[in-house]
This record gives sequence, C-alpha cells and structure tokens, in this order.
Amino acid sequence: MTMLRGVVVLIGVLVGLLSWQVTQAITSLSDGAPGLDDPYFPTLGNGGYDVLHYTLDIAWEEASNVIDGLATLDAQATQDLARFNLDLGGFEVLAARIDGQDVSFSRAGRELTLEARRALLRGQRFQAQIAYRGVPQQGVESLIDLPFGNGWERHAQGVYVASQPQGASLWFPSNDHPLDKATYTFHVTVPKPYVVAANGVLIATEDLGTHTRATWEVRQPMASYLATVNIGRFALVEGRADSVLLRDYYPARLVHELEPVFASTPQMIAFFSNIFGPYPFETYGVVVAEARLAFALETQTLSLFGANIRNYHDAEEVVAHELAHQWFGNSVSPSNWREIWLNEGFATYASALWYEHAYGQERFQAFMDDLYRVIAEPSFVASAPLIGDPGAADMFHIAVYYRGAWTLHALRQRVGDDAFFRILRRYYAAHANGHATTDGFIALAEAESGHELGDFFRAWLYEKPVPGR
Ligand code: ARG
Ligand code: ZN
Repeated sequence: MTMLRGVVVLIGVLVGLLSWQVTQAITSLSDGAPGLDDPYFPTLGNGGYDVLHYTLDIAWEEASNVIDGLATLDAQATQDLARFNLDLGGFEVLAARIDGQDVSFSRAGRELTLEARRALLRGQRFQAQIAYRGVPQQGVESLIDLPFGNGWERHAQGVYVASQPQGASLWFPSNDHPLDKATYTFHVTVPKPYVVAANGVLIATEDLGTHTRATWEVRQPMASYLATVNIGRFALVEGRADSVLLRDYYPARLVHELEPVFASTPQMIAFFSNIFGPYPFETYGVVVAEARLAFALETQTLSLFGANIRNYHDAEEVVAHELAHQWFGNSVSPSNWREIWLNEGFATYASALWYEHAYGQERFQAFMDDLYRVIAEPSFVASAPLIGDPGAADMFHIAVYYRGAWTLHALRQRVGDDAFFRILRRYYAAHANGHATTDGFIALAEAESGHELGDFFRAWLYEKPVPGR
C-alpha cells in the first residue's frame, strides 16, 4: 500500500468510526437501557426511569391458572426517553399505553419495549399501562435453576408467589431489580371461597357475587422480588406487636397446628427492634401455602412458608430468619445480587442472636459451633463459593448463609459487643428503605470500631480458607 492510500484508508476509517459514534449517540441518548448491569443478571431491571408505584389489577381463573392483568406503573424518567423497556416473560400483551394513549411495543425474550409517541423528558412523570393475559411461566425460561419458585406458582390448593431473584417479571411487567423499589397496590379477583393474602395492608374486600376482589396496599418502598400474592382457603389470625399489626394467613384446616409454630413472633419483633432499630413496616405476618415447600421466603411484611414448616424441628430458626430479613434484605436491600450475603448472612446470624436472647449462651454457642463445623469441613471449603461473590448459580449456597453469619460473629469477637451492635444499628439506620453494599458495610464497621478491617473482611468474604474462630 502506498503512503497516500494508507492515509486515505485511515481517514475513511476515522470518518466511519465518527459517524458510527454519532449514530450510537443519537439512538442511545433516548433509549432506556435494557438492564441495570447486575453482575449476575444483567438483563434484569431497565434504565431511564424510576417506578414510583405499581397498581396491579389481576383476575385469576382457577381451572386454567390464567391471569388477566392490568399493570399501571407511575414512573419518572431519569433521562430523555424515546423508548424504554419493562421486564416481562411470557403472556400475551394485549395493549400498552403511555399516559392513556395506546403506544406500539415489541418483545424480545424478557424485554418489553414501549415506544413513546413523543419523547419523555428527563424528570417527567408518566404512567405506563400494560394489559396482559396468560398462564404464568408458560414458554419462559428461568434465569436461574433453583428448587425455589419462579414467581407465580400454582399448587393443588391455590397459588403462592416466590420471586427471588428473577420471578417478578414472570407475573407482572416490572423494573425487575432491587435497585428500583416502589410502593404497590394490588387488586386481586378470585372465585369464592378463595382468600387473597398479599403484601402490606388489606384495604377492602368486595363481594362480586361469584368472586371476591381484594385490595392490598404497600406504602413503603418494596423491591419487585418481594411482591407476593397468595390464594388459598386461608383463615386469618390477627394480633399485635406494639405498633405493628400482625396478620397470619394459615390454611384453614391447619390453623391449630400452625399457630404454635409462629407464637414467638411478637417477642422476636420486640427483640430485633431493640437491637437493630424499629421494625421497618406497618404490618407483619406469615402466609402458609397448603403445599410442601423446600424454602421459606421473606416476602415483605408477609413471609411465606410451606405447610411442612409444622414438622421442622428447627422451625423457630427459620421463623426468626424470615422476620430478620424485614430489616436486612427488605428495608436494607442489596444494590445488586452479588451482595446476597448482606441478606442471608445477616438473617442467619439474627436467628443465632434470637437463640442467645431467648435460650442463653449455651444454645447460641451450640448453634454457631454447628455452622462452623459445616463451613470448616475440608471438602466443603474446597467446593464452596466465595461468599462475597458466590456467582448466580450459588447465590443461595449454604456457605452464603453459614459463613456469612460467621463473618458477623467473628466481627463481633474482633470489635467487641458495644461496637458490633452499634455497627448493626447504624448500618440499618443509614440504609433503611434503601440499599447497601459490602464496601459500605466494611467502611461503616471500620469507622464505628476504629479498627482496620480490610484484611479481616478479605479473608472471610473473598478467600477460600476459613479463618480460625
Ligand atoms: N431468601 C430465601 C431465604 O433465605 C431463600 C431464597 C428463596 N427464593 C425463592 N425464589 N423462593 O429465606
Ligand atoms: Zn434468607
């Protein structure tokens, strides 16, 4: 190639690059991103807007498990938007509207793209509406393989909803990432004699003849994975723990067996409120699905259990665990799914603290010893993930729970009780109704204790060998 031709080619390449960049800039400036760059689930959530409130109007057909949904999202643009995405897997989308006007939309996998008729401007409030219909999960793949539930789950006696971490978009169009919390209203129509139990406060139950329509409201911000609607032949048992209204929904025929399992809830709320800070929400309670479940879930203000909880010898540990998540996980949410130990390590250690409080030092020590034996076993050490970055497939590995709890216990031993409980209280107060990160927690622990803790946390969270106790 001659010198001249080389220069011409070079100029041509530069011009091409420049015009490509300009084109990119024009399209990307007004396109909401299809994901929020979660390290484990990059397609979850969407950029360009913030959902303030979801109104989910859902009618359930018992025989087919079809849900007929109308989702209304009150949102605010965080950039200029010609189009933006919602996460929705499965269903037929019947209509999409922005501010009451029909708009065109397209679908690709779990991404639903709405085309604004006129660009939404940064800061502008708008309302998006999606009418959809179908059998949840039909023709959709889970983003993770767990024996845990993928959103709306039909079982022989009704429905439960367990969505952590990616099932919300399998039953309603959402900005499906914990970074975008919002308040919620649910209107759920079910045939008689079914009862609906959802998050928050029951506002109304309308008699529609053959059906009933229940309205539930969540007035504090909630992550999409914690939204739940349960349908069953439930009996309601109400109570109170100081200012917190308690409402438990048990399968009617199992009330007498299940009530004792949850009998300590008021004392647990009092204890955790004392050591962490006030209970975060207006209501608490549990819903028990008339099904055998391999998990429990801390669905906000209404933790979910399977009926087999009544046969657990360690039910109290799980009951305390899901309650503790209301502070750690629900009010203080992870900024992304890599931070899962901030949920599971804290909730597991909270059960240990409950044992210490309710049954004394020996029981507490025995519990922590059991966990240590598991995590220190050589073959476990060799195969367990690093809990500070367990990977999507191992985000609920038992190491995240047990070693996470031990990380906190070792911190307590390192800095002493006074500093340790001050750290927990400050951490909760600083991030209540918001989000946290591991780095932020470490910085706070160092500031409150005056200790340099970089090596300490590196060893517990990011290296394989288990530190001594
Ligand atoms: N966060 C739950 C717990 O530790 C376990 C995960 C459940 N996930 C789900 N999709 N059900 O209690
Ligand atoms: Zn948990």
